[in-house]
Amino acid sequence: MYLVQLIYASRIDRENFPDNGARMIQEASAKNNRDLDITGVLFCDGTHFLQAIEGSRSNVSKLYNKIATDPRHLDVTILRMADVAVRDFAHWSMELLSYKADTVNTLKRFSISKDFDPFLLSADSLREVLIYLAEQQEVGLNQKKAS
Ligand SMILES: Cc1cc2nc3c(=O)[nH]c(=O)nc-3n(C[C@H](O)[C@H](O)[C@H](O)COP(=O)(O)O)c2cc1C
Repeated sequence: MYLVQLIYASRIDRENFPDNGARMIQEASAKNNRDLDITGVLFCDGTHFLQAIEGSRSNVSKLYNKIATDPRHLDVTILRMADVAVRDFAHWSMELLSYKADTVNTLKRFSISKDFDPFLLSADSLREVLIYLAEQQEVGLNQKKAS
């Protein structure tokens, strides 16, 4: 079985998107993805989605086709698709990467434009952004557990 990682970006369709929309998607996805042995992360900055999904070619492909036709977002575009030896987000069936005040500064480090725009980043940078945000999230979660 080939293991693949797919990263896509999209724009939120505000008319079809409630305030807690990203959290609702994450909760349903974490459950569905567990059954399909899919792992990944979802980032939402209020304007865009950036998501990585990892798993077998066939499951990633089927899931992406479902996500791509979801009316909650538009301009869904695959920005990276690669065979991978190991998963980047192995212990998350779908984690919502939180958007905090300092996230803006992180994103600016990776961006070539003033505002974060995933469509303007290279495939490798997008993977790095998601790995970095996931690491930050893990540090935050571990600190919470320790206190
Ligand atoms: C940005 C975004 C990300 C999504 N990610 C996932 C996901 O990782 N897993 C999942 O099962 N559904 C995800 N969905 C929801 C799917 O589009 C779809 O609604 C869901 O899989 C249920 O489909 P079904 O009822 O036809 O089985 C996502 C939707 C959006 C808008």
